[in-house]
Amino acid sequence: MKQPRPLARKPVLHHVTFKTSRLQEMLDWYEAVVGCTAGFTFEGAGWTTNDTANHRIAFLTSPAMKDDPEKISHTGIHHTAFEFGTLEDLVDNYERLAEVGILPDVCFDHGATMSFYYVDPDGNLVELQSDNFGNWIHSTHWMRTSEDFAREPIGVMVDPAKLIAALKGGLSVSELLKKSRAGEYQPEVPGNMHLPG
Ligand SMILES: [Fe+2]
Repeated sequence: MKQPRPLARKPVLHHVTFKTSRLQEMLDWYEAVVGCTAGFTFEGAGWTTNDTANHRIAFLTSPAMKDDPEKISHTGIHHTAFEFGTLEDLVDNYERLAEVGILPDVCFDHGATMSFYYVDPDGNLVELQSDNFGNWIHSTHWMRTSEDFAREPIGVMVDPAKLIAALKGGLSVSELLKKSRAGEYQPEVPGNMHLPG
């Protein structure tokens, strides 16, 4: 592909729109999990946001839409992601959702982020994360330059309950992150990353 001249001003990623056959379930789930409330809905669509943008997550529906039974092996979006400001906020949200039976399918210490992956009613993954460096500049630099990331770019699985027990036992976040990256909080049963093979 022939590259155009460089952008004078780069656009900002604004929203994601899903096709769905279960509009109300999706609206309810995104409100419960990430606090996205609907600004406008009708029988064919809904637009939701959890910040000051007019919408961040939207849905289109029609009676002609149907689920994809081969979703996991078909190409397309694997997950969207939302970021909490701290690890404490991420695990607090884990506990809030666990109280009503909403649990992640797989959780990773990716090195740059701690990431819990939930599955919406349509089978789309939603990553809830916090930056392990507390700072996008530092985590970006680490991803680009560290041998640790090059060696283990997907990350190490973690069990959020073990992270919470360590934090409640008084371990600092920085010590916890060293141990989680070393594999100390892995789950008894590996999680499901919703990838084929
Ligand atoms: Fe991600």
